[in-house]
Amino acid sequence: MDFELTEEHLAVRDAARDFTQSILLPGVIERDEKMEFPKDQIAQLGELGFMGMMVDPKYGGGGMGALSYAIAMEEFSKVDSSSSVCVSVCNSLVNYGIEQYGSEEQKEKYLVPIARGEAIGAFCLSEPEAGSDATSQQTTAEDKGDYYLLNGTKNWITNGNSASTYIVIAQTDKEKGHRGINALIVEKGMEGFIIGAKENKMGIRASDTHTLLFNDVKVPKANRIGEDGFGFKFAMKTLEGGRIGIAAQALGIAAGAYELALAYSKERKAFGKEISKHQAIQFKLADMATNIEAARMLVYKAAWMKDQGMAYGQASAMAKLYASKVAMEVTVEAVQVHGGYGFVKEYHVERLMRDAKITQIYEGTSEVQKIVIFRGVLKD
Ligand code: CAA
Repeated sequence: MDFELTEEHLAVRDAARDFTQSILLPGVIERDEKMEFPKDQIAQLGELGFMGMMVDPKYGGGGMGALSYAIAMEEFSKVDSSSSVCVSVCNSLVNYGIEQYGSEEQKEKYLVPIARGEAIGAFCLSEPEAGSDATSQQTTAEDKGDYYLLNGTKNWITNGNSASTYIVIAQTDKEKGHRGINALIVEKGMEGFIIGAKENKMGIRASDTHTLLFNDVKVPKANRIGEDGFGFKFAMKTLEGGRIGIAAQALGIAAGAYELALAYSKERKAFGKEISKHQAIQFKLADMATNIEAARMLVYKAAWMKDQGMAYGQASAMAKLYASKVAMEVTVEAVQVHGGYGFVKEYHVERLMRDAKITQIYEGTSEVQKIVIFRGVLKD
């Protein structure tokens, strides 16, 4: 076993860390408060190649592995998960989905601009009545010969307004169940495609999450990803990698909160000494450090397995399940270490605590991860 990071991994970590401190940290509290999408920050991430990290250089990407990507996600998420979720959806859902399963034309037209940081993508699976139960798609893509007629509503779509390329999962043949579902690439501006209400969220408030409405949108057949009926499997395969990104986000949130709590404990004095010298606080910090390290092992292992070409669906579900639980627990404890200061916005930890919760919900709730894990266990 080799737990040592390579030079590439360390260089990515340093670059992501510098970017986080110099570009993401300034204004993060205000963007959260005002629900202001980090447009400039995402543009700069694009210029530096972070929006297409794993894409083949021939399509404008960085050609890196999933572990480098997870390390970058961890660093960004220590401070700004509203930005990192945009990085995650573009890299692991949209880019991966198109690069792995799309046609050459789709790659040239839609993948290259996202990988180069010139466009943003969105992944549209969830619906008002289809969250965890993703096979129950109500959005329809009626086969009209050379195009699909798309009708329906998608909910809680990350990058809902900032994106220009949307992968939309829809039902073409209800009788075939999940085998009748397709994945279509929809462009912003197509007639009948309406960006609906923006969500006012508990956490990741600067990320733009919208309802999307499709009213008789004509989507060319050439925009279908893969064979007819491949849409559900496409979504499941793509989410396997997406869960590594969100697991890394959860890990970063936990690590960010821990670093803040540790620094604060060395400054704050109570009962005549720094609170880090009180065993009550030392025990909290020791538990946080241990749980974060365990989460990091699961996240890095899942990413490493992907890089080795191994099956990683169960590993990514385990990483997401555990890292998101740790993110929730560690952020709550980090607020506790800060006492009253932890409850006010200037101290960052309250935002990290609010941001942590979504990691237990999106790209499959914790309960969905357990379904995926248990199915893997049954196969063993
Ligand atoms: N790879 C390939 N195929 C897969 C697969 C995988 N990982 N998982 C399932 N399938 C296939 C199955 O083999 C089956 O096909 P066959 O019948 O041909 O064998 C088919 O898909 C249906 O599978 P299941 O019977 O297992 O489906 P299910 O209805 O029991 O649901 C589930 C399984 C795991 C709960 C799934 O519905 C699921 O993952 N739900 C959560 C959806 C989700 O994560 N949504 C997140 C939205 S995206 C998002 O959040 C992005 C963002 O904004 C940040």
